[in-house]
This record gives sequence, structure tokens and C-alpha cells, in this order.
Amino acid sequence: MKASLSKLRTLFLLGAITLILSACGRENLTALVPKGYGADESMKLILLTTIVMTFVFLVVIIALVLVIFKFRKKKGDPVINPVQVEGNKTLEAVWTIIPIILVVIMAVPTVVATFQLADTTDQESYINIDVTGYQYWWHYEYVNEEITTSQDMYVPVNTKVYLNLITKDVLHSFWVPSISGKLDVNPENVNTMFIEAYEEGVYFGKCAELCGPSHSLMDFKVVVVSEEEYDQWVKDMQDFDSEELELDTVAAEGRALFEEKGCLSCHATDSQNYTAGNQPIGPDLTQFADRSRFAGILEPTKESLTDWIKDPDAIKPGNLMTGTYGELNDDEIDKIAEFLLQLSPSDVTAASKE
Ligand code: CUA
Repeated sequence: MKASLSKLRTLFLLGAITLILSACGRENLTALVPKGYGADESMKLILLTTIVMTFVFLVVIIALVLVIFKFRKKKGDPVINPVQVEGNKTLEAVWTIIPIILVVIMAVPTVVATFQLADTTDQESYINIDVTGYQYWWHYEYVNEEITTSQDMYVPVNTKVYLNLITKDVLHSFWVPSISGKLDVNPENVNTMFIEAYEEGVYFGKCAELCGPSHSLMDFKVVVVSEEEYDQWVKDMQDFDSEELELDTVAAEGRALFEEKGCLSCHATDSQNYTAGNQPIGPDLTQFADRSRFAGILEPTKESLTDWIKDPDAIKPGNLMTGTYGELNDDEIDKIAEFLLQLSPSDVTAASKE
């Protein structure tokens, strides 16, 4: 009875672990379901390493079990003093050479992949985006297209996109697990990587370097669209002029307040504002209404937006927006939110890809 109870307990434990671990990955936020070149290369290396390690594990465990059970002293065996040996050149050579071979098997493809992923010789022929990390958001400048945006990065499917990474403040790390490996974002030198996504969709990106109290909220998205949609999006972004937006009365009042209250001194509402190379203070809001999330984690709804404007620090501790603007009453917040939720330059949106 006792034995079967403990067996049951072990089974239950195993089941629980399987259940918990199986929920570890989200399909658009996991390196284990690769949807891009870099992630694919990483996955191949993960598999190779796992196979080699499993082989080592099995050999060691089998040898151990064999030794324990085969050579243990059995009932009635005479007490003997085993022959004392020392040094065995053949054995020592074997257990030195085998690990070296195993390390080479893992090292060669790793080094090859590392160099391939760092190769930027064809950079000029592809889309280039200057990516700047800020506490706790990301700014994107599409170099040749001369458009800027933040948080949601639009890229075409099945083509290389080069990212030139730098930070305005502390160290960050750019990581879209489903599409590529991560790369450090330093303040003094530009680090370049490329991403190439194989499937359309919205992929979740994470800052992978501890950068302050809201590090875990420094999320972003890579929106992978078809080539036609990408061209359309670029054109829409280039043509967009928020002054020309036809707004309803409330939103128009919101736009006036947005300027009056100084929001505009940190947040652009037109992509063109930075192309001269000036740097933004706060996230570019050009396509705010099209965002998959804002402030990294919030759905772009009226409710979450008013909550955010009321007290950003309650949602994202340590963000630099808190305390930079005066008191706004509920009515003013409501109008500003209404305005932001109409900033939609294009029909190509993250929502249409989610
Ligand atoms: Cu930026 Cu963590």
C-alpha cells in the first residue's frame, strides 16, 4: 500500500512538472519554435549540444550503474583486498580524446554560425534600421526610408533587416527570441545584427539586460508583414501628417491639449520629426493607435491609456515621463487619450497580424 502511494506521488509530481514546463513558452516569445534565421541557427546548435550531452550522460550513467551492480560484494563473497593499480595510459588517452572530439563537434558549428550571424558585408543592400534603447522603450529610424517610430518595428517577411543598435542611457540588450539571438546595446559603440523572419506575425521582443526597475517591462514587438504590406506601410508613414488628420471634436480638443500641455516637446506625432537626426525625448507616437501594446505592456485601449497618463509610475516604475507634466484633470486626459487613439497612419497594423 505504502509503495503504491509513493509511486502515485512520484507520478503526480512528474505530471505536474510536465504541465508547468509545457506552459513555459509562448509561441511568439520562444527560441524553441524558431521563426527566423538567427533563431533557427540557435535551435540547431541547441539540438546538437543536447544530443552530445545526452550521449555523455547515458554513457556515464550506464557505466556507473554497471559498476555498482555488477561488481558489488555479494552475500558469501570472501573478503579480499583488490589488486591495487595506478595509471593506465590507454584509458587516460581515451577519456581525454573523446571529450576533445565532443567539444570540437559542438565548437565548429557554433563558431561558423557566430561568424555568419555577425557578417555585415551585404548590409548596404538591405533595409537598415537605427535602433536606440532608452529606459524603458525603443526608438527606430528607418535609414533610407526616412521614417521613425518606436516600440513596434515593422519589417517585411523573408528578407534581411539590419539593426544598428545603440543606447542613450544604460546598457540594454535587444532580443526577439522567435526570430533571432540577442545582442548587447552599448552607449559608446554601434552593434549591428540582422534579423530575417520566415513567417508573418507579431513577435514579442524583450530587453535582456538588467537596466533598472522597469527592465522586465521594456517589451517591444516586431511586426512581420508581406513585402507589399511593408511598402504600403512605409509609404503611409512617409505621407502621414497628423495635422491633416480628420478628427472628431473631442479628439481635436485632445490634439490642442497635447500641444498646450507640452506633450509635444517629448513625443512626436509625425514620423518625419526626427529625420534631421535630432533625438527624441519620449517615444514617437506616430502610429500610436496601431500599436500592439504601448508602454511595452498595455493594450492600446482608452481605459489603459487614461490609467497610464494619470500615473505612469504605478504601471512602469522609474519611467522618465512621471512628473514631467502638470496636473491634468479627467476631462483633459480623456481628450488626449481620444486624440492618441486616432493616430493611425496606415491600414497595415499590428492588430491585423496578431
Ligand atoms: Cu533595457 Cu532591460
